[in-house]
Amino acid sequence: MNIQTNLKDDLVSLKTEAEAAVRQAADKEALEAVRVQYIGRKGGRISEIMRGLKDLPHEDKPVVGALANEIQNAITALIDEKIEGFKHAEISEKLKTETIDVTMPGTGRAVGQVHPITQVIEELCAVFKGLGFAVIDDHVCPEIETDYYNFDALNFPPDHPARDMQDTYYTDVASNILLRSQTSNAQIHYMENHDISKGPVRVVAPGRVYRNEEVNSRKYVLFHQFEGLLVDEDVTFADLKGILHAFASTYFGGERPTRFRASFFPFTEPSAEMDVQCIFCSGKGCGTCSQRGWLEVLGSGMVDPNVLKNVNIDPERYTGFAFGMGVERLVMLKYAVSDIRMFFNGDLRFLKQFKGA
Ligand code: DAH
Repeated sequence: MNIQTNLKDDLVSLKTEAEAAVRQAADKEALEAVRVQYIGRKGGRISEIMRGLKDLPHEDKPVVGALANEIQNAITALIDEKIEGFKHAEISEKLKTETIDVTMPGTGRAVGQVHPITQVIEELCAVFKGLGFAVIDDHVCPEIETDYYNFDALNFPPDHPARDMQDTYYTDVASNILLRSQTSNAQIHYMENHDISKGPVRVVAPGRVYRNEEVNSRKYVLFHQFEGLLVDEDVTFADLKGILHAFASTYFGGERPTRFRASFFPFTEPSAEMDVQCIFCSGKGCGTCSQRGWLEVLGSGMVDPNVLKNVNIDPERYTGFAFGMGVERLVMLKYAVSDIRMFFNGDLRFLKQFKGA
């Protein structure tokens, strides 16, 4: 046996050995060890055998060299193939654990809802839109106001006791800046900017108002009002009654009896308060209506000529009516809420009962 045959035999058995080792390698690390052991450049078994090449007769070198190369390539290919196999196995393993089970219930996300006050404001807007009124955007009429718009222009004389009806927050005692105590300021702002020769005033204005009240179950320092104003030629008290009666029926449901009682507001003459027949006892008398059978719902009246003069509308030609209601009170009546503070303390157990639309 010559050296060439020896080397050839070595190479062939090395190939068989390497193939078995590759097949047995259980993971990438084991495979890498096999690679280093057999075909590694430094210290690999093939490199070692190749070192013996130099002792071969000249004409044998290419033959053995070619065989060594062939075997090296074969082992490399086998290893590559096995690596591919590992990669595939890894991916399918990953897919197994990462598949999405579309039949699993989703993680619920809490959805917020509209506050009952806002819900009722939206409802009131819808009712009055249906009656031909436009809604004045809340931010058009400031909550931080001068006493001109909150009182003077609305015909509250200076030092008139009527100002005491609404305990007003002034930003400081000397200044005439205040937190509006009523949405009636919207009347002045709107009429100042409206050219009545181009069409009637027919608007509603919801918004927040502030009063320095002693807080109890019916009174809070902040609440919401809903103001209405209609000015045109030939507007009469019958129009006022018709519109407000229609509103009461729509809001409280059914043909709800209403009645108007004489009252006083500086900016209306005559003034009236509207009551609806008690929705809890249908007029028989109960705790909610203090045995009266009627519930007070809003203030109203024919716009005082002085108010029209203050906004340069000719009271000889134009007449109108105005009304204002407390939104919290309307919600409390409709949903039998007994404490106004519930609307402001953010208790979700309360708020969640108003699912709304
Ligand atoms: N601004 C009045 C208040 O806060 C409510 C009111 C009464 C408004 C009569 C009106 C009205 O527009 O005509 O007590």
